[in-house]
Amino acid sequence: MSILSFHHLIDAEQIQKSDIDKLFALAERYRNTDPKKIVEEGDCRGYILATLFFEPSTRTRFSFESAMLRLGGQVITIESGDSSSAKKGESLADMSRVMSKYANLIAMRHPEIGSVAEFAKYAEVPVINAGDGANQHPSQSLVDMYTIFCEKKRLNNLKIGFLGDLKYGRAARSLLTVLSKYSNNHFVLISHSSLSLGQKKKQELEKCKCSIEETSDLESVINDLDVLYVTRVQKERFESEQEYDRVKNLYQINKKTLANVKSNLIIMHPLPRVNEIDPEVDSMPQAKYFEQVGYGLYVRMALLSLMKKSL
Ligand code: NCD
Repeated sequence: MSILSFHHLIDAEQIQKSDIDKLFALAERYRNTDPKKIVEEGDCRGYILATLFFEPSTRTRFSFESAMLRLGGQVITIESGDSSSAKKGESLADMSRVMSKYANLIAMRHPEIGSVAEFAKYAEVPVINAGDGANQHPSQSLVDMYTIFCEKKRLNNLKIGFLGDLKYGRAARSLLTVLSKYSNNHFVLISHSSLSLGQKKKQELEKCKCSIEETSDLESVINDLDVLYVTRVQKERFESEQEYDRVKNLYQINKKTLANVKSNLIIMHPLPRVNEIDPEVDSMPQAKYFEQVGYGLYVRMALLSLMKKSL
């Protein structure tokens, strides 16, 4: 039996507070210990992680792979649909049965909503959803939660702004789900009406211990925030280039926008960024998106280490 409450990690909804406590305790140990010692201890020695990416990725794939190597494990990978038998028409079910013979853990990204859940149904080993279309990105929500935990020392009583593409942005959607399990968080959803979160998700959140406000006016809310989570407009999800062009540059964070924000605001972004954060912000003390990448490595190490215990 896994010490985590889930076997596969498909949806952020599965992540319980008790999972967060266990994962963060281990991530803290990995972060505060000499990496040579961690690799010698070899928490994943003898284990193979398969990373199956049918959509582009830099951080998610490399951080899972780096995490596995740092734990003494090994990695096999498919970098795109074109390099696997998916190209020949193999079903996800068959690929899952096959990959289960080669790997002890699988992290998978795919453009179709629900595809990773479908794959996991046939898997004999734990599967992590590394992004299924515009739906879910639960391991990113752990990265983001851990960043907030390290930087703000709490996961409740926060005013968190979510800016940009809340319709298609799976990272923001997954983070909202996990944060809503903690008390007294106030979410400020900042987007153009065509990129708003959607009624269903808002209703789900409203059932939780948090409150929500919606606006398209960043200026009116930014100075009150503890956390600003900026997202990229998800070009690849739009039906036409024209539709994307209409909304791609509606928001940009720069020194002027940030002139009166709280000194202890943290600005996060799952990355990659395009134009939504001006590089002049990078040197400001509030900019935490590159630290976020670093925290992400430790929490993914913890995730692999604890998920493999369920084998
Ligand atoms: C995000 C993703 O792929 O959903 N990136 C990531 O995993 N770090 C966000 C994005 O692509 O905009």
